[in-house]
Amino acid sequence: MVVEYKLREMRPSDVLAVVRIANQSFLETARLGWLMGRRIVQRLISDRECLFVVEDSRGEVVGFVVGGCRGDRATIGWIAVHPNHRGRGIGGMLLKAVEDRAREKGIRVVETGTPFARPFYEKYGYECVHVERSMILELVGRSISIPEGVRIRTIMLDDLPMLLEFMGDEDEWLRFASAYFAAYENDPEKAILVTSEEENVLGVAVGRSDKTCSELAALSYLFVKEKGDAVKVLNSFAYVASSRGHRWLGVELPIMGITEELLEKMGWQDAKLPFFWTRYRLRKKL
Ligand SMILES: CC(C)(COP(=O)(O)OP(=O)(O)OC[C@H]1O[C@@H](n2cnc3c(N)ncnc32)[C@H](O)[C@@H]1OP(=O)(O)O)[C@@H](O)C(=O)NCCC(=O)NCCS
Repeated sequence: MVVEYKLREMRPSDVLAVVRIANQSFLETARLGWLMGRRIVQRLISDRECLFVVEDSRGEVVGFVVGGCRGDRATIGWIAVHPNHRGRGIGGMLLKAVEDRAREKGIRVVETGTPFARPFYEKYGYECVHVERSMILELVGRSISIPEGVRIRTIMLDDLPMLLEFMGDEDEWLRFASAYFAAYENDPEKAILVTSEEENVLGVAVGRSDKTCSELAALSYLFVKEKGDAVKVLNSFAYVASSRGHRWLGVELPIMGITEELLEKMGWQDAKLPFFWTRYRLRKKL
């Protein structure tokens, strides 16, 4: 049977079908039931000019794209096709819809970011312009102990002024404080101060648990005065994450004092988990 597909603009009555397809396509949204519905409804309210769906000959929605046109750039936010209908050009139809809308508005560049669909975008003429690398370490089955010669304790609110002095840079401290307060409610124990046995501060690390996977602890901030102490601070954080029962530790590069090569030598791998990944930034000139 030949199925005919038709592209059209997204309507409020499509929300449920779109959420279902999203939840079958993106693991991170499937684990947060409210997330995709909220995003789609918000976009239908605020800016729907680049929201499209494809329906089959029975009028069932089988794919959607949430794009946007702002200034001199168009973007693809989310695009997904029902698993039974993939590989038939529907993804391409949806991309083209956003590109055509962008052209109508005089826009000449479309940008997107993706962890897994790079081959799909490249097929339609997108080029990778930047890699945001994330790496991951499986903590289970590994010997994890406190690095030699260090002490670890949780950062208390009252430590904040002392840390401003330690960092000696207001902007750096603000980056730290932003990560610290983000972790404050759910992950207070994952903000750690690492000192020598003589109580000299070597560095700090702040992490957060991942909303979509409780098995993952992600490092959100690391600071050391001496680059040579970075591995000690990272390994201290691994110790805390492992003690708190996380299976994986994830980091987004760059991290102060630590290179990708060093992480690879220590057994870290490229992050390709459905809830923590390396991301490719892609661009197409129209
Ligand atoms: C990526 C996606 C939207 C493509 O939709 P589609 O209708 O199958 O796309 P098309 O038929 O137009 O193009 C198919 C091409 O996509 C690529 N592709 C197919 N499956 C893919 C996958 N799982 N991952 C990456 N690329 C894939 C291939 O290059 C394929 O080309 P080929 O048929 O010549 O081998 C669809 O696979 C999907 O919904 N995936 C899950 C959600 C997702 O990853 N979205 C994009 C990230 S935001």
